[in-house]
Amino acid sequence: MQNIGNQLRRGLTSIFSGRASRKQAAQGRDPAGTMETYRNPTEVQMSQLVLLYHTNHRGELSVGQLLKWIDITACLSAEKHAGCPCVTASVDDIYFEHTIRTGQVVNIKAKVNRAFNSSMEVGIQVTSEDPCNEKQWNVCKALATFVAQRNSSKVKLKQILPLTEEEKVEYSVAAERRRMRLVYTETIRDLLAKSVIQDDLESRDCSRMVPAEKTRVESVELVLPPHANHQGNTFGGQIMAWMENVATIAASRLCGAHPTLKTIEMFHFRGPSQVGDRLVLKAIVNNAFKNSMEVGVCVEAYHQEMESCRRHLNSAFMTFVVLDGDDQPITLPWIQPQGEEGERRYREASARKKMRLDRKYIVSCKQTEVPLSVPWDPSNQVYLSYNNVSSLKMLMAKDTWVLTSEINKIKLYTLEDDKFLSFHMEMTVYTDTAQAFLLLSDLGRRPEWDKHYQSVELVQQVDEDDAIYRVISTALGGAECKPQDFVVLASRRKPCDSGEPYVLALRSVTLPTHPKTPEYTRGETLCSGFCLWREGDQQTKVSYYNQATTSFLNYVTTNVAGLSSEFITTFKACEQFLLDNKSELALSLQNL
Ligand code: COA
Ligand code: ADP
Repeated sequence: MQNIGNQLRRGLTSIFSGRASRKQAAQGRDPAGTMETYRNPTEVQMSQLVLLYHTNHRGELSVGQLLKWIDITACLSAEKHAGCPCVTASVDDIYFEHTIRTGQVVNIKAKVNRAFNSSMEVGIQVTSEDPCNEKQWNVCKALATFVAQRNSSKVKLKQILPLTEEEKVEYSVAAERRRMRLVYTETIRDLLAKSVIQDDLESRDCSRMVPAEKTRVESVELVLPPHANHQGNTFGGQIMAWMENVATIAASRLCGAHPTLKTIEMFHFRGPSQVGDRLVLKAIVNNAFKNSMEVGVCVEAYHQEMESCRRHLNSAFMTFVVLDGDDQPITLPWIQPQGEEGERRYREASARKKMRLDRKYIVSCKQTEVPLSVPWDPSNQVYLSYNNVSSLKMLMAKDTWVLTSEINKIKLYTLEDDKFLSFHMEMTVYTDTAQAFLLLSDLGRRPEWDKHYQSVELVQQVDEDDAIYRVISTALGGAECKPQDFVVLASRRKPCDSGEPYVLALRSVTLPTHPKTPEYTRGETLCSGFCLWREGDQQTKVSYYNQATTSFLNYVTTNVAGLSSEFITTFKACEQFLLDNKSELALSLQNL
């Protein structure tokens, strides 16, 4: 018994001393480096100096080369844990934040987040540094799944024991991510079956259309020993690099310029290939959105003697943009899909756009770190209404809003940052700005134009410009879901000078008098509201902003991807409401 106690104590001491040394190392309290610093036992690092022959015409590291390095580093980490050869089963979406130039150094760090049965999730972090000025950048993060195989048969892996807080988080979320990966294909299929996809093909400007056929590429590769591991299996990274090559050619044929790869959607390696295989890679632009395009690539393998017997190895979807001299994305021509296949892929590309946004924001899990509802209390009233308005103003001020679509003179912009997907809609209404402001800032009237607002109750008029409302709203998840209720602080602000907009900001608060009830799902809004700009005597630019929270995300991404037109319908109803009530509040306007 005493023995077990001693062992336990020793174990705990080593864990805690590990923790102390990690903390001290992080705080820089161990300048001599005498203490042992913690390093994940599966961690593998690779550093590469980017040379001319690694780069493209812009002097930037080619993504294909980067994918090869990522795959090798991750594979070595997986093999370190498994103790036997591993193959790449899949690579999740990758978002490239930064390009890397000749002369800079790429640092890749990989570690196993979690082992399941025969498969493991490996987390990869890519940074770059400029040795001349000591600057560092994050380039991308990636998650790859490797399957351990001994003599081509299955291996039961030992479990990972997460120690640090970061390792524990990754470990627990890895299980959720695995579930998503395994149902990825069905989820896409389901989404397509359920969505009403806006068919905007006919309304597009034909003079700026490029026939999809013009972008079709086919290319063959022979798998040689340098493309494969010591067992003769083609490296997944090599295949990804070849795929990126044909996708880039297809993308450049649409825009007649050199495109930049922004995101890669999940790669799934359906079957292996070996030295001696011929790989046929085919790519075509599936859909072009305002500033980005989706290129699909498909890879098949065959043996020399059996060309007619092709194995489907992989299909992937990549998003490209074309940057101008200031690194801003330019507007792309429309694509004219051809044939039934082309039109199907065109629509499926919209569905994938929605899925990509969903994954990016749900998988990151960062939204849960932010408190959505803040307790309302007279002592924090000033700070809360300040926070309410300033959050909306900060959101408006971002210079990274991207015009995603323009339908019926309503512009839809999106903004993707680390934590949130935000959207913003804009239209011009032929009415007086102060009048529009009065009408919109009375939340009690919103059910007149917004069918999501069933009823609104004024809970507390805090001061002249701030009020708390309880809103009952229809369930976004369909009739079988419970209706939602929100307790929101509405803060309205008149402009201090003529260049400023009128602002109505909304955010959730909690009130002890209005707790959650079983009949309703408590909804939350972190930051949303209206900004109204005077554009003329009887002309107002009306903008609605919303930073989408998880409960709302599905609805937002469905609209952003063009799979639903509810945003447009609701905003049009808002315009009609403002026009119908154009002269109603003339007297109150004297105060504004
Ligand atoms: N993403 C992540 N993991 C996946 C996956 C996917 N799309 N498909 C299967 N897996 C995992 C399964 O969850 C399972 O994990 P577990 O053992 O931990 O539960 C493991 O792979 C094996 O799955 P199983 O259903 O038994 O096998 P399979 O017939 O689907 O084969 C591969 C999976 C990956 C072994 C097989 O598809 C393959 O050989 N692919 C090619 C791998 C390769 O050579 N890559 C290099 C480039 S070609
Ligand atoms: P899907 O057709 O359902 O998208 P595939 O796996 O057949 O799935 O193909 C993946 C992608 O590869 C397609 O979306 C398309 O962009 C591209 N592709 C497939 N076949 C061809 C082809 N014959 N020529 C050019 N590109 C192709």
